[in-house]
Amino acid sequence: MAEHPHGPEDHRFDADFVQRFHTTFDGSFPDVETTLGPSSYALLAAEAEALAQNGAAPVVLDLGCGSGRLSEVLLQRGLPPQNLIGVDFVAEQIERTRQRLNPAPVRLFLAQSQDLPLEDGSIDCVLNHMGLAVMIPVDATLKEVGRVLRTGGRMAVVVDGPPKEGSIDKIYIQILREAVAAEQPQLLKGLASDHDISDPAVLAHLVHVQTGMIPHRAPQSFELLMRMSVSEYLTFLEGEYLMRRLREVGRQKVRHAVQRLFESHGEDQVVIPLAMQLMVFVKPPA
Ligand SMILES: C[S@@+](CC[C@H](N)C(=O)[O-])C[C@H]1O[C@@H](n2cnc3c(N)ncnc32)[C@H](O)[C@@H]1O
Repeated sequence: MAEHPHGPEDHRFDADFVQRFHTTFDGSFPDVETTLGPSSYALLAAEAEALAQNGAAPVVLDLGCGSGRLSEVLLQRGLPPQNLIGVDFVAEQIERTRQRLNPAPVRLFLAQSQDLPLEDGSIDCVLNHMGLAVMIPVDATLKEVGRVLRTGGRMAVVVDGPPKEGSIDKIYIQILREAVAAEQPQLLKGLASDHDISDPAVLAHLVHVQTGMIPHRAPQSFELLMRMSVSEYLTFLEGEYLMRRLREVGRQKVRHAVQRLFESHGEDQVVIPLAMQLMVFVKPPA
C-alpha cells in the first residue's frame, strides 16, 4: 500500500490547503445526467433510499457536504430533514449548506471526517460525493465511518475514475500536468491523497482493513456528462485543486491551451465526460 509521499506534517499542509480553498470555492459538481442516467448526486441518494425499512427513512450522513447539493437532492426526494446530518470542516461550506437547505431543520456539524461528533452505530448510511480522496489521512476517516455506522449500514462513495482516452478531461489533465511540470514541478507530488482510492481494489482493501466492511456489489464506472462552453469549463476548472495551486502565469498557460482545445472542436458547447465511479460497502455483523 502506498505511503503518503511526504509524511504526516504534509497531511496537515494538504488539509490546510483544502480548507483555505473551500473558504472561497464551494467545490460542488454540476448536477447533470450521467452515463447511468441520473446525476451523480441522485445515484448516491438512491443508495440511501434503498435502506428504508418498513416505511422508516434511514439516518443519513452527508460527509464532506460542501455547499449542500447532495443534501438538497436527498430532501427533494423525500428524506425527512431530521434524518439528515451534514458534516464539513470548512465553516463557509457549512454556511452555504445551511442557506441552501433553509429552513429545513437538518443537523449540520463543523467537524473533521476523522473525528465525527456522532454516536457509535447511530447512522444507517454514510454518503460521500467526491470528497474521500482529500479526507486525509483516509484511513482515519474510514475508521470513523465504520464506528458511526450501525451493523447492516452502508457507505456509498462517488470518487474520481480514470479519464477516457481522447476526452477533453484527459487532454486537460495533460495540459495541466505540463504547465505544472514547467512552472512548479514540486506540485506534481500532489495534492496527494495518501492512497490511490480511484483504484477500486485499493479502496476496497482500505475499507476492509479499517472497518471490516465489504463491497455490497461491484464498483460502477460512469461518466458525468457535462455540456459546457469554454468559459463555463474554465470557471469549473478554477475549482480544481491542482489548478488553484499553480501561480497565475501557469494558470494562464492552462487557460490558453484549453481555449485552443475548444476552438479545435469548432462548437460553442462541447460534451465533457468526467470519469467517476460509485462504490457501495456494507457493515456486516461482527
Ligand atoms: C470536492 S468538495 C465536494 C463537496 C460536496 N460533497 C459535493 O460534491 O458537492 C470536498 C468537500 O469535503 C470537505 N472536506 C475535505 N476534507 C475534509 C475533512 N477531513 N473533514 C471534513 N470535511 C472535509 C471540503 O471542505 C469540501 O467541502
